[in-house]
Amino acid sequence: MTSQEIDSLTIEEKAALLSGADFWHTAALEGHGVPSIMMTDGPHGLRKQRGSGDHLGLGDSVPATCFPPAVAMGSSWDVDLIRRVGEAIGTEAVIEDVGVVLGPGVNIKRSPLCGRNFEYFSEDPIVAGVLGAAMVDGIQSRGVGASLKHFAVNNQETDRMRVSAEVDPRPLREIYLRAFGRVVTDARPWTVMCSYNRVNGVYASEDRWLLTTVLREEWGFDGVVVSDWGAVDDRVRALAAGLDLEMPGSRGVSTAQLLAAVADGSLDESALDVAAARVWALVERTGARAPVSGPLDVDAHHALAREAAGRSIVLLKNDGGLLPLSPDADIAVIGAFAADPRYQGAGSSMINPTRLDRAVDEIRAMATGSVTYAAGFDTAVDVAESDAARLLDEAVAAASGAEVAVVFLGLPARLESEGYDRDDVDLPANQLAVLQAVVDANSNTVVVLSNGGVVTLSFAANVPAILEGWLLGQAGGGATADVLFGVVNPSAKLTETIPLRFADSPAYLDFPGEFSRVRYGEGLFVGYRWYDARDLDVAHPFGHGLSYTTFEYGPASASTAAGGDVEVSLTVTNTGPVAGREIVQLYSSLPTATTQRPPRELKAFAAVPLEPGQTREVVLVVRRTDLAYWDVRVDSWVVEGGTYSFDVAASSRDVRSTVRVEVAGDPVAVPLSRTSSIGEVLADPAAGPILRAAMAEMMGDAPAAMMPEGVDLSKLLDSFPIGRVAMFGADVDPAMVDALLAARPSDDAET
Ligand code: BGC
Repeated sequence: MTSQEIDSLTIEEKAALLSGADFWHTAALEGHGVPSIMMTDGPHGLRKQRGSGDHLGLGDSVPATCFPPAVAMGSSWDVDLIRRVGEAIGTEAVIEDVGVVLGPGVNIKRSPLCGRNFEYFSEDPIVAGVLGAAMVDGIQSRGVGASLKHFAVNNQETDRMRVSAEVDPRPLREIYLRAFGRVVTDARPWTVMCSYNRVNGVYASEDRWLLTTVLREEWGFDGVVVSDWGAVDDRVRALAAGLDLEMPGSRGVSTAQLLAAVADGSLDESALDVAAARVWALVERTGARAPVSGPLDVDAHHALAREAAGRSIVLLKNDGGLLPLSPDADIAVIGAFAADPRYQGAGSSMINPTRLDRAVDEIRAMATGSVTYAAGFDTAVDVAESDAARLLDEAVAAASGAEVAVVFLGLPARLESEGYDRDDVDLPANQLAVLQAVVDANSNTVVVLSNGGVVTLSFAANVPAILEGWLLGQAGGGATADVLFGVVNPSAKLTETIPLRFADSPAYLDFPGEFSRVRYGEGLFVGYRWYDARDLDVAHPFGHGLSYTTFEYGPASASTAAGGDVEVSLTVTNTGPVAGREIVQLYSSLPTATTQRPPRELKAFAAVPLEPGQTREVVLVVRRTDLAYWDVRVDSWVVEGGTYSFDVAASSRDVRSTVRVEVAGDPVAVPLSRTSSIGEVLADPAAGPILRAAMAEMMGDAPAAMMPEGVDLSKLLDSFPIGRVAMFGADVDPAMVDALLAARPSDDAET
């Protein structure tokens, strides 16, 4: 599409392109060769609705492979796997003639209560950014657009269409925008979806700073900004801010508003030209893809879903090596989720799966010993007491007669969904009661969890083995059997902390806010950054996950590459009896930091497959830009110079070795004024030396001698505004201060 082609459109045609034709389609422009394209959810499969649309997962959609949602796939930390899943979703989109898949979501898990945490990867922005980029790469490799969502600071469902996320610049940049920036710069998504909420008072859909300054001018985004479904409050303001495409269509209402705004001069027509050109370019991009021959290969995609699920199951605990189970063990499978799996979350991401594995069937298929099943509990809200008692008795009977009990517990579907948040993070009491009765009958008990958001593990001390299965998609049942029997050696690790108590969690006092405002009071201290800074014990730390084998880490060494990236190398050896995969993590800290920094922050990771006895070299690259903090004084990223520690770790609390690297800092030219403190002036490369010399000449040691013993003069002066020195009787001419400040340009000389 050329500028002449845009010029060939009437203003009405341009405006029409900027709003959906219906719930899922863009408008076509007959006569200009612009077809309509379809956009559908996402993110862990295709939810293509044939009939009338909805964004709540209510209406039926065509069968598609339901891969594990992000909560599970995030735990794989496996870039290659997630890219392959993205490719498969892209292929299904091509077969179904879908132009854009609405995902992935890279919002940060700020609170365990967020009802939509199952759609997000992590509490850490590097994990979310790297894995999100892999998903975008995979989808787009098939000539299908991805839609990176929900931009931005959409970390709760409560009041999601109005709430203002009140967040300071540093956490905004360093935590909440970082993952988006990474995906945009590395994977160049064709579309970005703005979120419903407001950010510091401004609707994301109308936030020019967010949609244009940061997204396009800083990150170089060149695609289409699409609204979340129904996120536009004022279409004219939204277009002016940089929101190109409003979805779904508003039956012509917003088109008329745009035309009226151009007519009355409040909107420049060029804004329509720019946005229409972007939408047209998107349509052209999707039209250029290669067709897929033949129907969907259901078996192959189901097998990939099983592989992905197997890599997503976290072995939290395995005392005495209870797992893997021997195939000839007599097993009691207990818990309704074994027969009626919870494998995805509710809302717009709900896939109509091509198949659905049930764990109990898959266990039966692999076991050679006896397998009995008892539901144990009902996931419905109202269950008659007599029924509950009968179910419990059946579970106890099954457990007593078996060598091992495998108990499937989890969150009933209604407890977590898009559209609302959870009230607490506990498993239902009836399930815990059944578990206790089973453990009393048979101490060889394995717990398998199905939950989209973190649950506390109050029962952990009573059971020897726990698998955190999250929501595993349509092949989760088979994958669970694979892990239980050791066909797959678990390798997943947590991308979010499991706290001991919900009250310990970072946003506990500030979630979900009130009166449509939520303060991000914990600042930078999100997830493990918080638990580490507060030195709180946790049930399982970020990055934790066990294996059926053991890994030994060799010593690490570091070097600095051209451009300032830091490379940390080490060897990892599989010292156990079976093949496995180790997720190696690298955290940085700067002990001498002058700015607030979390004690330890993840900077890089790698998933390393190893045969028994095999050793591999692993190289982890830390981008220099990822060492930077956001400096509010100069509105810019700054790397503070100093000796950084890089911890090579098996989890955030299992550091295997540390290397130290000297990193050169970025110069920071803070504007100086009369309100600048003496410390700030001394730190300035131009004015500092002049002031230091003047102070030495003027005062010598005299003032220090005048101070009461024990008072640190340099600390006292550090925050003293230089413009006020004269008022305190010091022999300083205000003109001298002005001359000093003139040593370098100032933005604020008058204040
Ligand atoms: C959700 C989006 C989704 C859209 C379309 C919205 O309610 O927030 O994630 O893509 O609906 O279904």
